[in-house]
Amino acid sequence: MITLTNLSLQLGRRQIFENVNLNIPRGEFVYIVGASGTGKSSLLKMLYMDIRPDKGQIQIGDYHSDTIVKKEIPNLRRHLGIVFQDFRLFDDRTVFENVAFVLEVTGVKKKLIAKKVAEALSEVGLSQKRNEMPVHLSGGEQQRVVIARAIVREPYVIIADEPTGNLDPKVAVEIMGLLKKINQRGITVLTVTHDYSLVQKIPGRILQIKDGQIFDVALKTSSSN
Ligand SMILES: Nc1ncnc2c1ncn2[C@@H]1O[C@H](COP(=O)(O)OP(=O)(O)OP(=O)(O)O)[C@@H](O)[C@H]1O
Ligand SMILES: [Mg+2]
Repeated sequence: MITLTNLSLQLGRRQIFENVNLNIPRGEFVYIVGASGTGKSSLLKMLYMDIRPDKGQIQIGDYHSDTIVKKEIPNLRRHLGIVFQDFRLFDDRTVFENVAFVLEVTGVKKKLIAKKVAEALSEVGLSQKRNEMPVHLSGGEQQRVVIARAIVREPYVIIADEPTGNLDPKVAVEIMGLLKKINQRGITVLTVTHDYSLVQKIPGRILQIKDGQIFDVALKTSSSN
């Protein structure tokens, strides 16, 4: 699903990654952890090909960073569900319209849009709020809308950069639980987090970025945390 091969990345004067090899099979639920500035967001940006590695390759599905041409990048992004910490919803559109938008731009028929949006809103538990404006929703509800928008195109993978960073701890657990539930029906989920208590509550593979490398780490027990 996702493979990094001998990948190096420099940004400005900083060597962010140095000869990294990594494989993330389809269906995994993966946390990306690491100190601030180690390259977590940069890793995600390479996945949606906002930035390209200097050396080596990143592969995601059928797309390869060294061979993809610019006009294919929107096609790649259609297979990705991207979720940020700040919700990035349209304030002047309803919940339904915010989710429908990503299907409208690809020319899906109205009737099918209605069906798919209803399914996505149901999956995130927001069917009742379909006609609300985002400002009338709580932070957790807004993030659910973003997740509905991310899943409505049935992506290969959900890429989330600190999706719970702006939420209180209880809501953060609910949102991560929702991502886990989506993962359990086969969608790969990659999520950057700083919140170790979340990682303990909702288990997954943990990848740590440190000193230009990415490696698997085991979950610490709460007594050593
Ligand atoms: N376009 C750029 N030009 C130069 N340096 C950059 C650029 N983008 C990011 N950096 C630097 O690369 C490093 C990694 O940034 P990145 O945003 O990936 O870190 P992060 O692990 O996501 O950090 P945080 O936890 O604070 O979000 C940082 O030192 C950042 O300042
Ligand atoms: Mg970041």
